[in-house]
Amino acid sequence: MEPAREGKFEEFYGEGLVLHSDMPTLIEQIRERGLPQHVAVIMDGNGRWAKKRDLPRTAGHQAGAQAAERLIRFAGGQLGLRHLTLYAFSTENWARPAGEVDFLMELLDRFISEKIAEFESEGVRVVVSGDLARLPAALQQHVRNAIERTAENSTLILNVALNYGSRQEIVRACRMIAEHVASGKIDPAKIDEHTISSSLYTSEIPDPDLIIRTSGEMRLSNFLLWQAAYTELYFSDTLWPDFGPDELLRAITQYQDRNRRFGAVEEME
Ligand code: FPP
Repeated sequence: MEPAREGKFEEFYGEGLVLHSDMPTLIEQIRERGLPQHVAVIMDGNGRWAKKRDLPRTAGHQAGAQAAERLIRFAGGQLGLRHLTLYAFSTENWARPAGEVDFLMELLDRFISEKIAEFESEGVRVVVSGDLARLPAALQQHVRNAIERTAENSTLILNVALNYGSRQEIVRACRMIAEHVASGKIDPAKIDEHTISSSLYTSEIPDPDLIIRTSGEMRLSNFLLWQAAYTELYFSDTLWPDFGPDELLRAITQYQDRNRRFGAVEEME
């Protein structure tokens, strides 16, 4: 984990929290207030991070993978988060130059292959949201292997959104439900929100409480559109490779300060 930035916490966490300059105390306070069950992240800004340093975009993705690794370790370790979704590759990302797509596929393959032993021993369960069929055969194999090898783990559920697009996920769910209707397994009148939720890739995990997007962009970009109906959003100007545990804590603190009403009105005191 990155060393805590001495003296920067007031600046980072703002009002509403008793502030201490040591991270363990801060983590304890945040845990006491109740962690979100599921945090999902749109990791954006790798290319701009590289450009600022006169480096090729691939160097930004490489640094982005390191930031992902640091966050997984922190979330599953000191913080004790239960579900973390990372948007690693979208259905729209195929439109990038072939060289960049190939690099990302290789990076993801290396990441999964190299980290699997650590995931296994640290209790991380790997699950995937997305259509694996279009991925290179070796990557598909390594992803399936990681899913199988970590299936019994439960400390942190790491959901990797890979070749994922929310609209495509909803179309897939509609087809599955339509097939069940056609075969007489489902009565159309009985289709409800649960029927749809349970036909999505995320059927086994709770809806995200908090979605974080880095790099100053303020869009969901086809990410968890159904699941995000009541999700709190946190937008950060930080470019993904610079996003660290300290800013995750800041995002969670802000989330905890918000008043989630799920469309209802405030209870009278
Ligand atoms: C967005 O930055 C990032 C991606 C499309 C890829 C995300 C991949 C990683 C962070 C690395 C691998 C991930 C894991 C889980 C190991 P961008 O290229 O769109 O940046 P830009 O908007 O500045 O060009």
